[in-house]
Amino acid sequence: MKFKIRKVTLQDIKEVYNLLAANRPYVGLNSRYTYLLLAKDFSDTCLIAEYDKKVIAFSSGYIPPARRDTFFSWEIVVHKDYRGNGLQLSLIRQHIKMTGAKFFEGTVNPSNEFCKDNLEKLAKSLGSKLRKRILFSKEDFENDGHEEEVLYRIGPINFP
Ligand SMILES: CC(C)(COP(=O)(O)OP(=O)(O)OC[C@H]1O[C@@H](n2cnc3c(N)ncnc32)[C@H](O)[C@@H]1OP(=O)(O)O)[C@@H](O)C(=O)NCCC(=O)NCCS
Repeated sequence: MKFKIRKVTLQDIKEVYNLLAANRPYVGLNSRYTYLLLAKDFSDTCLIAEYDKKVIAFSSGYIPPARRDTFFSWEIVVHKDYRGNGLQLSLIRQHIKMTGAKFFEGTVNPSNEFCKDNLEKLAKSLGSKLRKRILFSKEDFENDGHEEEVLYRIGPINFP
């Protein structure tokens, strides 16, 4: 399958929102306004993948102002019908390339085996260290059933 990976635009957001709504769990659904802001002000660090002119994956993130050498990955989702094509890793690699980040950060829920495997694979393929720690605990989510969010920090990265 041939996918086109590009920066998100305002015109994509209706499709992005529907993609997120239909492909849970593990990605929260935030307001449309949030995604419109991402497309407006953070399009340098937010990507989509298209297949046949349809948005089939979305990956958002940003450069934390206090850690400008780091790309922080926020949400990433691949449409159920297109999983198994390594798109999560392709999108993350593209983020690292575009931002020139020395470190990658993202949080994962302990039960999300696919995502954990992919981040382990990423660290290995980059030859970089992987450190894990709990970033947000269940209590931070007022024990509402939300799992803890474990931070995966990978780096330093020497991207080829
Ligand atoms: C995590 C996610 C982005 C990975 O998608 P991806 O890049 O297409 O996955 P991969 O190409 O690495 O898939 C590897 C294998 O796992 C399978 N797989 C991946 N995600 C799966 C899922 N959620 N459920 C069942 N199988 C899944 C693939 O079909 C593939 O199997 P195969 O080797 O037999 O073909 C995707 O599962 C997803 O969108 N999940 C929901 C949101 C999410 O968890 N986001 C990440 C938060 S940290």
